[in-house]
Amino acid sequence: MDLQEIEVFAPATIANISCGFDVMGCCLDAIGDVMIIKKTVDKGIVISKIHGEVLPMEPENNVAGVAIMALLAALDYEPDFGFDIEIDKRIKPGSGIGSSAASAAGAVFAANELLDRPFTNHELVPFAAEGERVACGAPIADNVAPALLGGFTLVKSTDPIKIVELPSINGLYATIIHPQIEIKTSLSRDILPEHVSLKNAVKQWANVGALVHALHQNDHALFADSLKDYIVEPHRSKLIPKFDKVIEESINAGALGGGISGSGPSIFTFSKDSQTSENVKFAIENVYKKTTIPYHLYTTKINEVGVKILNKK
Ligand code: HSE
Repeated sequence: MDLQEIEVFAPATIANISCGFDVMGCCLDAIGDVMIIKKTVDKGIVISKIHGEVLPMEPENNVAGVAIMALLAALDYEPDFGFDIEIDKRIKPGSGIGSSAASAAGAVFAANELLDRPFTNHELVPFAAEGERVACGAPIADNVAPALLGGFTLVKSTDPIKIVELPSINGLYATIIHPQIEIKTSLSRDILPEHVSLKNAVKQWANVGALVHALHQNDHALFADSLKDYIVEPHRSKLIPKFDKVIEESINAGALGGGISGSGPSIFTFSKDSQTSENVKFAIENVYKKTTIPYHLYTTKINEVGVKILNKK
């Protein structure tokens, strides 16, 4: 029987991984949206329900709708059915952990399944990136690539989009704090310098190369030593209360390192295993509970596969 309906887990992601500003990201396992996409008799796209957040219901203004439109435009035939999208939005928009990317990635993954997989997950990345254009103003891929492919990814180029899939360090966990403050992505990008010093650029690309090598070699020490951002973090961290203290206390509690997730305000840290990530969570909580800022804290393993099918009929 033909597939009529699919329910997917659309994962949250961290992008930027410290030194890999705008290029390196990774996929998370315990945080994500749930989406149900059904075939409809009428052609076209309808967003019938969004739970949890107020977001545009018109498909042309919604990242999920636009991402599916991009996919349909690349087909060499017109499907004889339409799509009904229901989104349970569990990743808060503006959190820095890929909320819009999750919707875009989940939508194209599910639509591709309903169409009997004309595209590979790798080929779906540019369609999901078109969805990101609605949320971010540009077809950026640093979150949608890990959301669709899992593990760690590197955006080798944006025009055309070329993605390199990287291995993950075995057993790696992330601890993430999302302080409930608003930092507009536009401000977070506007405060970045247009030019960087050659000295910092040299240190940065050395770290990116070493980080990629550490992932391939499963080398915790090199991974930890490479998680440093000399270019973006010094500017953006000023917008996030207690950023330096969170990183310092996380490393004291055993974390390998961390940084700003997306354009903030979330802060991520990586740990070598689940127990250490729980210790890090406790250490971060001790920093933030002394402030008046509400927050959410998560620990999660790295998701190696990306979007997951929860149900289909
Ligand atoms: N990499 C972007 C930024 C956010 O840091 O501004 C995620 O695409």
